[in-house]
Amino acid sequence: MDKLIMRGGQPLSGTIPISGAKNAALPLMTASLLTSDPLILRHVPHLADITTLAEVLGEHGAELSLHGHGDGGETGRVLSIATPQITNAVAPYELVRKMRASILVLGPLLARHGEAKVSLPGGCAIGTRPVDLHLKALEQLGAHIELEGGYIHARADKGLKGAHIRFPSVSVGATENLLMAASLAEGETILENAAREPEIGDLVACLNGMGAKIRGAGSETISISGVARLHGTEHRVIPDRIETGTYALAAAATGGDVTLTGTRPELIDSLTELMIKAGADIETGAETMRIFRDPGRALEGVDMMTQPYPGFPTDLQAQFMACMATAGGAAMISETIFENRFMHVPELMRMGANINLHGGTALVRGVEQLTGAPVMATDLRASVCLVIAGLVAKGETEINRVYHLDRGYERIEDKLSACGASIRRERS
Ligand code: EPZ
Repeated sequence: MDKLIMRGGQPLSGTIPISGAKNAALPLMTASLLTSDPLILRHVPHLADITTLAEVLGEHGAELSLHGHGDGGETGRVLSIATPQITNAVAPYELVRKMRASILVLGPLLARHGEAKVSLPGGCAIGTRPVDLHLKALEQLGAHIELEGGYIHARADKGLKGAHIRFPSVSVGATENLLMAASLAEGETILENAAREPEIGDLVACLNGMGAKIRGAGSETISISGVARLHGTEHRVIPDRIETGTYALAAAATGGDVTLTGTRPELIDSLTELMIKAGADIETGAETMRIFRDPGRALEGVDMMTQPYPGFPTDLQAQFMACMATAGGAAMISETIFENRFMHVPELMRMGANINLHGGTALVRGVEQLTGAPVMATDLRASVCLVIAGLVAKGETEINRVYHLDRGYERIEDKLSACGASIRRERS
């Protein structure tokens, strides 16, 4: 298993291009199952999760072709997906367990094919990750669902019918599955307490480009008028707001001066607000974000609570904690979305961080300096938290199991080395 070897202490300085959003590209890819026409996605990031989902779609009869970079300086790739017909309704355990977002084939398969047999994704490091909200809502559209042998057996022999659905709690994936299923259902569907994440808006923009009739994306109530069929379209994946926030926090933590390009800074206003309060300087343009700080002026600890969008994203919680570990004073960090998303805490403490956990809250007391150590990555965002800690720690940090990182960060060591970081990958 590959590992990253880092030596900390250099402020980051330079430019980092932001890739297409992983959490937008994945649902966009499953939307291709809704039509027999080709769906062309541009600015697709080169990530392990994308490759895994491409394998899953291939199981269902999708024909995929990847082209090089797009036009004019795009960093992403162009992915063309066409599914003339659904040849197999099964999403197998060995693939779904590798990438939970495979559950997003459920809605499209039911809508297009009337049947789906999708392995239950199972939990992961950050929580049990149930899919009850997806299943209950699909049953309201008329699907008949049974759980057997670790698989979800879903059928809609008479097709799906629109319904008024109120989610008991906000779920990004359940909102996405229902948007895709309802696009081809008969009649009107209303989704109340829908997720408002920008990736939902990106999926709706693509679905409407395919001929769907969806209104209200970005608000908590979305309405969908079902249509008989959808056609292909071309769609550019939005920039990755979590990658943007990750590198912004790395720049602030190291006391550097970094400009992020090809991004949409307004998508992480909740982070920007806290970083300015902590003492970072931030300048934003239409597609750029510059983060800089006088190395002589330490950051100050600020409290944070994760919430559904537009609140502070749970996917930036670990990275924020790494940044607060060497800030002045203290920061109270509350994780309200997932029940076990503090796996990075013991590893940060091995590097000298001073953190106390009380249920879903971590009290981080800033320390003068972190010290490099061999550490273990446990999940995607915990891994990149350790990279940020390694950038500021004195001495050498070795991060094991970096396959977690490769799932969500495109060429991270290249992007950081280009800004002066001492980071290299050791393949094994
Ligand atoms: C998406 O996961 C993202 N993944 C996650 O990013 C992100 O952390 C999460 O949304 C929250 O923003 C992708 O988009 C591929 P949820 P998702 O359904 O859809 C509970 C990353 O690091 N829940 O909004 O699975 C659930 O357990 C990943 O890129 C149910 O109880 O998240 C959690 O506590 C990690 N029943 C909460 O709701 C359900 O049926 C929010 O989950 C579904 C969810």
